[in-house]
Amino acid sequence: MLKSLLLKFCSIILYSIMLNMERLETPKKPRLLCLHGGASNATVFKEELSIWPDYVLDKMDLVFIDGPFPAHVDGTIVDQRFEWYAKDDPTFGNFEEGIAYVEDCMVKLGPFDGVLGKSMGAIVAGLLPGLQEHGLYLTNVAKIEHVIVMSGAKLGTITFPGPKLAETAFSTPINIPSLHTFGENDFAKETASELVEAYVDPLVIYHNGGHEVPKLDEEGLKTMFEFLKKINAIA
Ligand SMILES: *[C@@H]1O[C@H](CO)[C@@H](O)[C@H](O)[C@H]1NC(C)=O
Repeated sequence: MLKSLLLKFCSIILYSIMLNMERLETPKKPRLLCLHGGASNATVFKEELSIWPDYVLDKMDLVFIDGPFPAHVDGTIVDQRFEWYAKDDPTFGNFEEGIAYVEDCMVKLGPFDGVLGKSMGAIVAGLLPGLQEHGLYLTNVAKIEHVIVMSGAKLGTITFPGPKLAETAFSTPINIPSLHTFGENDFAKETASELVEAYVDPLVIYHNGGHEVPKLDEEGLKTMFEFLKKINAIA
């Protein structure tokens, strides 16, 4: 009697240990909403990111969307290319409409754990956690747990003016894991470092390229894996 109870007890313990091990071995992939750069689109951005090795990309569940507005280059609309807001409009007229669109996509395609953006997409992605933290937007979606921002900017500074709500979003330091990339020959080098400073615990991949998705060299891969570990993408 006692022996069989003991056996049963042991097998339950063993079983739960096995379950836990399984959980440790296969962590849930973090799901990230991906925002392309200005005058680009979801397909193009996905293609740009494909220079990262599969063993990096496979650790995340990346969802690409098109920006809400047709892209303008030198005042003319570019076919099949999109933007998140009108960057030449000093009043930031459609900015909030763009943010509302992103929130809408997060509701429809989510839940998401984080956001990833490049250039104009990084400017928006880098701003979202602060907007959410201060209750301005993204109140209908789960907390943004982490961001990856490439060649972005901190909106609402003297070097990079933005709408009023950006100042509120960045009025307190942003305390979530963040990964920042920008290049030696990147025109966004200064503005991207301002965005780094807005985050409490940033990881940075500073590469020798320009305004682009960086190739990951040995050093870059090390930082990438440090980040993936931080966001529980790898055990
Ligand atoms: C995005 O750009 C690619 C390449 O130019 C094009 O094939 C595709 O149709 C575009 N997507 C949209 C939604 O316009």
